[in-house]
Amino acid sequence: MEKETFTFERIVELLESKGKKQEKLHKNAALIRDKIVSKNVYFRGIIEFSNFCKNDCFYCGIRKSNNHVKRYSITKKEIIDCVNFCNNANYGSIVLQSGEIRTKQFIDFVEDVVFEIKKRYPKIGITLCVGEQDKETYERFFKAGAHRYLLRIESSDQEHYERLHPKDMSFTNRKKCLQNLKDIGYQVGTGVMIGSPFQKIENLAKDLLFFKEIDIDMVGMGPYVPCSDAPIDNSDFNLEKNLNLSLNMIAVLRLMMPDINIASTTALQALNPLGRELGLKAGANVIMPIVTPTKYRKDYQLYKDKPCIEESSEDCKNCIIKRIESTGMIPCFGEWGDSKHFFKRKNGDIS
Ligand code: 5AD
Repeated sequence: MEKETFTFERIVELLESKGKKQEKLHKNAALIRDKIVSKNVYFRGIIEFSNFCKNDCFYCGIRKSNNHVKRYSITKKEIIDCVNFCNNANYGSIVLQSGEIRTKQFIDFVEDVVFEIKKRYPKIGITLCVGEQDKETYERFFKAGAHRYLLRIESSDQEHYERLHPKDMSFTNRKKCLQNLKDIGYQVGTGVMIGSPFQKIENLAKDLLFFKEIDIDMVGMGPYVPCSDAPIDNSDFNLEKNLNLSLNMIAVLRLMMPDINIASTTALQALNPLGRELGLKAGANVIMPIVTPTKYRKDYQLYKDKPCIEESSEDCKNCIIKRIESTGMIPCFGEWGDSKHFFKRKNGDIS
């Protein structure tokens, strides 16, 4: 098959696909996914271990100035219990996610926890998602045993980024962090919110080109969903549009970067009960079941109507397996499911 060139104009056209065209787009992306990275769906049990955050992102439910959130940090012992659950469930990897904190205490804690997990469960892959940190901190986490890192750019357009974030957050620094993570040797993931305020379809096309340009290994992107008490204007929010655009983004990205890992995110399920299945059918190959202890889940609502907050980790496991199987894909246990792209990148294979 002839390789298609994804120009800006072509990407916009594909992102706008509806009806039969959209069906064809998703089918093609799923076929490419099956061929290049297989029908396997890899698990990353996500532990939302703290909702303290120094940032005040205008769209986020756990932003610093939201006084309606009860702040929590779960203990090392509780984290290890979550990892133990993942180990018994045979999830190949875990994700440790929290709000962004840069204190010495927080950094020491994360390093220690990663080290302890690696010691007790050497077979489990560890992904971190704890925001912007110094290069030296990223190095410490890497040495302790984390090998993948997620840091969403949120928008690849500086002007748009600045409308979503307060002045003390720097677009340039965020990009620098992504580069530092790559230089250290992490498998690096990024992503954006789809349908966020002020965003145009052209922004999304640029986001996809940005992922390609920085040669990213993994992408997690989901629909924007308004959060409670938002200081941002949500009057343009359109559920159906955001859902369709999110699925089209996954599909187009799969065609553009066939060998990367793409997550079918929980936020898709906030907009449609079958949202995560639709994400898999559009070309995703990673799923992130929540394993945060149930009692904390309601306090980690980045957006309204987040699914799975009343469920236990066992419920989520059983539910997610059924969801994966319903798409004809294969739940893949006990494997890290690393990004194929990462290894090609490491070996200098640029094909
Ligand atoms: N809707 C959708 N996603 C959100 N996030 C934060 N707030 C929202 C929201 N209102 C996403 C951000 C962040 C990730 C952890 O959660 O993209 O990087």
